[in-house]
Amino acid sequence: MITIDGQTFSFEPGETILDVASRNGIFIPTLCYLKGATPTGACRICLVEVDGARNLVASCATPAGIDMVVSTDSPRVVKARRLNLELLLSSGYHNCLVQDMEPDAWTDLQLKGLDRDEHKDICPAYGECRLQAFAVKYGVKTGRFEPKETPYVFENVNPFIARDFSRCILCGRCVQACNEIQVNNAISQGYRGSRSKIVASGDRALKDSDCVFCGECIQACPVGALVPADVVFKGHLRTDEKKVRTTCGYCGVGCQLNLHIYEDKVVRVTGVEQSGPNYGSLCVKGRFGYDFMTHPDRLKTPRIKRNGEFSEATWDEALDFVTDRLRRIKETSGPDSIMILSSARITNEENYLAQKFSRAVIGTNNIDHCARL
Ligand code: FES
Repeated sequence: MITIDGQTFSFEPGETILDVASRNGIFIPTLCYLKGATPTGACRICLVEVDGARNLVASCATPAGIDMVVSTDSPRVVKARRLNLELLLSSGYHNCLVQDMEPDAWTDLQLKGLDRDEHKDICPAYGECRLQAFAVKYGVKTGRFEPKETPYVFENVNPFIARDFSRCILCGRCVQACNEIQVNNAISQGYRGSRSKIVASGDRALKDSDCVFCGECIQACPVGALVPADVVFKGHLRTDEKKVRTTCGYCGVGCQLNLHIYEDKVVRVTGVEQSGPNYGSLCVKGRFGYDFMTHPDRLKTPRIKRNGEFSEATWDEALDFVTDRLRRIKETSGPDSIMILSSARITNEENYLAQKFSRAVIGTNNIDHCARL
């Protein structure tokens, strides 16, 4: 048994203090911890006090122990967390209505998100940034430490992922998401000390690396260092977005995703972390392939080619046309002159119907699937 904040809990071998606390509804803040990946203990926000231990320990990386007595919110713990947050805010450009406000006033302003017009380059993660949220929670003020500027320039040279090194807190979550969750091994920690940086393929731009642009790193980033390239700043805050859960339409896996909508337009997509089959992960198409929805070239009605030219038709006209052609081919050349090629882009149920249609309606076993090509 382990005692956390005065309550006693049982635990399984291998569970960390954070695992036991979270399972039992005890909140411990985390920044670098990524579920499903090896804990690194990099950010030190999850520090807790263990009776008999000389130093505070990172709860995400410390195994629960028999008869351990843990405090998650003692004055010593809170003081250490506040200092860590203060240091993180002073390294890099965290302009989420913090740096340029009177130290005594900014917490209110954070909460209200006022004066947007004054902050054209406000962090695109505003309202969803965990560093910001914890800074507000612990009432951390800035100004005690000299702000440090990053030597690395903003990278926005691919259509998918923008990298703002000035907001990176080097927590390493993106590296773990890439290497341990998606197993793409495209990024890693690079350089040392004040020049530390998340690098891709020996410090190349993402577009020149092994990155497949699944965007798992964006989803893992707890701050605004990695964001979809086209939402770097669209004049709205994440708190203005409406979230609609749906199923990805690109293939039959059925990944669960959230469409983030602003002014009736999808502005970004995230994976639903609490639900299978994807548990937050998405591929490049699911995460970034959404602009077709409102694209002016999108076909919204069927088209039939007549005299070499496509013309718009109703669904009834299009289906009658196809039915008639299939019937005529079957009558003149036999059912085996027809083949149905099905698709991984449709659901399993629709694929089942396709083979039923092929065998029972057309009368041929000529049915195949694009995944075998
Ligand atoms: Fe535990 Fe970062 S969450 S050290």
